[in-house]
Amino acid sequence: MTRHKFSWIALFIPSTTGIFLIRGTARRVLLFMSLISLSSVYGQVSYSIAEEMAKGSVVGNIAQDLGLELKRLKSGKARVFTGDSTEYIDLNKERGLLLIKERIDREALCGQTTPCALDFQIILQNPMELYRVTVEITDVNDNAPTFKKTEKRFEISESAVLGSKFVLDKAMDLDIGTNGLQSYTLKPTDNFVLKLHSQADGSKKVEMVLQKQLDREKEENMSLLLTAMDGGEPLMSGTVQIYITVLDINDNAPVFTKAVYKSVIPENSPKGTLVTSVSASDADKGSNGEVSYFISNSLDGVSELFHIEEHGDIILVGELDYETAKYYQIDIEAVDKGGLSDSSKIILDVTDVNDNSPVITIISQSTSVNEDSAIDTVIAMISVNDPDSDTNGEVHCDMNDNIPFAIKSTTNGFYSIVTDSAPDRETDSEYNITVTCSDEGVPSLSSSITLRLQITDVNDNAPLFEKSSYEASVIENNSPGLSVFAVRAIDADWRQNARVSYILDDGMINGVAISSYVSVNAESGVIHAARSFDYEQIKDFQFRVKAQDGGSPPLTSNVTVKIVVKDQNDNAPQILYPVQTSSSMVAEIVPRSADVGYLVTKVVAVDVDSGQNAWLSYKLVKATDRALFIVGAQNGEIRTIRQVTDKDAVKQKLTVIVEDNGQPSRSATVVVNVAVADSFPEVLSEFTDFTHDKDYNDNLTFYLVLALAVVSFLFIVSLIAILSVKCYRWRRDRMFYKSNGHLPVIPYYPPHYADVGGTGTLQHVYNYEVCHTTDSRKSDLKYIRPSSQSIISLDTNGTLSLRNAHREKLVMEDPDDQVSRSCKLI
Ligand SMILES: *[C@@H]1O[C@H](CO)[C@@H](O)[C@H](O)[C@H]1NC(C)=O
Ligand SMILES: *[C@@H]1O[C@H](CO)[C@@H](O)[C@H](O)[C@H]1NC(C)=O
Repeated sequence: MTRHKFSWIALFIPSTTGIFLIRGTARRVLLFMSLISLSSVYGQVSYSIAEEMAKGSVVGNIAQDLGLELKRLKSGKARVFTGDSTEYIDLNKERGLLLIKERIDREALCGQTTPCALDFQIILQNPMELYRVTVEITDVNDNAPTFKKTEKRFEISESAVLGSKFVLDKAMDLDIGTNGLQSYTLKPTDNFVLKLHSQADGSKKVEMVLQKQLDREKEENMSLLLTAMDGGEPLMSGTVQIYITVLDINDNAPVFTKAVYKSVIPENSPKGTLVTSVSASDADKGSNGEVSYFISNSLDGVSELFHIEEHGDIILVGELDYETAKYYQIDIEAVDKGGLSDSSKIILDVTDVNDNSPVITIISQSTSVNEDSAIDTVIAMISVNDPDSDTNGEVHCDMNDNIPFAIKSTTNGFYSIVTDSAPDRETDSEYNITVTCSDEGVPSLSSSITLRLQITDVNDNAPLFEKSSYEASVIENNSPGLSVFAVRAIDADWRQNARVSYILDDGMINGVAISSYVSVNAESGVIHAARSFDYEQIKDFQFRVKAQDGGSPPLTSNVTVKIVVKDQNDNAPQILYPVQTSSSMVAEIVPRSADVGYLVTKVVAVDVDSGQNAWLSYKLVKATDRALFIVGAQNGEIRTIRQVTDKDAVKQKLTVIVEDNGQPSRSATVVVNVAVADSFPEVLSEFTDFTHDKDYNDNLTFYLVLALAVVSFLFIVSLIAILSVKCYRWRRDRMFYKSNGHLPVIPYYPPHYADVGGTGTLQHVYNYEVCHTTDSRKSDLKYIRPSSQSIISLDTNGTLSLRNAHREKLVMEDPDDQVSRSCKLI
């Protein structure tokens, strides 16, 4: 456009020759117009064109401006003369126009010189005319500002101080004026600002100045764009890329990810367990960002327990014990290679594991206790402690069963072992009390102790006889001092308390002190006979033996001992009837009319011994006429064995021997006088032979008979009286009658053994059956005896057995006598 305007102005100048009021750019043209008018001699014209016009573009109508005819141009062979310089402009003679021949670059033509003009001449021949033409080349903004390099690199430490300057390249713009380089911009301007310094040559020095601290950690690489701009229309610019690499300095300390780390670990964790991991980050680069970790605890032993690895793993290297430490504070430090550091801590809670058994401690202990100790007597005190916590440390204690002790919890962790019931040394003299304490952990741990406890004896047991009663037998006529047997008592207590002595309990037997019968050995319990016993006087007796232990006070018990005296055949039979007298004469009368078997009389004998020893047999040893009489071997009855004849002598004399059955047997003899006569005078006459004086004898005989009758009567009366009394008593006490030693003088009857009851105990009952007939002459005495012997013995096991019971029954037998019968019935 500019070009066209100039050409248009040039075109107008010759035709108007006036003043053109043309805007700014046309002022110089006006100046040239006046010049043209002054040099019309030569002719001079000026044009102004923009550079870079296309070839053939019209510069100006030279013919018109010079006022030349086109013919003149042709005839004058007008031509452009430039000398040596390049012909940029050509002359078109046909049209009288100046045209662009070569592209004109103002910058190449003039550089920075202004104004830039092409001077040449138009030369005409015939006549020779010379016209000066000046073509001013005006600038067109055809060059952008340019930098030498398209990029620029800086390495700037992030520690660079504010205000640091960094020189940048200048840009070049070949254009001039407003089309030349006008300004620079730098973007972005976060850290740097652009600063321009005008220089002497008019150019500018371009610098960028650090206005904000660099931080590699924020922005390590920056890219800025420096733009240089001209003032042309349109505006042109050139850029250079500025790359800044921020160099690291160790300006960042490591930083832990947490201020406090928390972790939990069970106390029995093995070595090598990972406790926790920590990490610290360092924003710096390279070695400045390389972090190492340390445990900084010093004296508390933490550093021996834990180890921190290169990457921040905390490893357990020792053994943890909840009971020692329930938590740990591990101080940790992170240090980079530049020496900057950060610290943090790990709060490590140790959790309890049931790893401790209860610990039982005996505070006090008795080694023995009396068996009569009161209930709740304290035997031992123990304390139990479990270092574990919570349920792992809660303990309960138990004891073995079936012992007379109990465990009681007193205050926390203290227990007392007390008697629960009275111990009995005789049952258990020693106890092993096992106390087991277990905690409540899962699994539960337990421990136990055993206390050995002796039970001390107390005299709480009386001696005990082996039997409830003793019975033993002694054969009569024993030697005094004979040891009969031994009683024995056992005392369950111990030592002195169990030492038994035997004491004879005082008492009387038949009015005589027991000690005169027997004695007891205090040590051995052997019972000795103190005298010789006589069965006929005492058949048995009882006494008590006391056993006494050595305790204080002593305990005693007693037992009944019964001694049975056994019979020996030490008594000969005694003849009760007929009464033997040395002076008087007694005879039994047998009438001559007596039949065979007539009972003449009966020999009555007793033996105070018993059993076989008192079993009597009768034998006729001598007789006047052996053929006339016989004696009943069992009953002693003397009977006739044939008819009495007149030839038989009146006076008969029989000798009867009575023998017992003892070993050896004892005997007694009796002489029986028998008178065979029909009347008393006959008898008397016959028996006068027996007397020395017949008259005297007659009287004497009479009185004797009278006296005999009286005596017999009295005897019978008293016998009946005694019999009645005895019968009555016997009835009343038939089960138990004891002979008190007052034996009846007359008559005396052997004892009667009776087995009473089924208990195996033999009660000795002496029954006296006395029966009587009014006729003493006809009275019968009869023994019914079994052949066996009665033996009562004390066998080894102490039970009394009756090997053979023997009964004797004494019966006065008379078939005609009712008294006798009634007695037998009883
Ligand atoms: C108690 O223990 C001891 C030793 O272990 C043993 O000799 C004794 O026989 C035991 N006593 C009882 C009553 O178990
Ligand atoms: C003998 O023992 C009995 C109990 O067995 C007792 O009642 C009695 O008093 C004792 N007698 C003597 C003399 O100690």
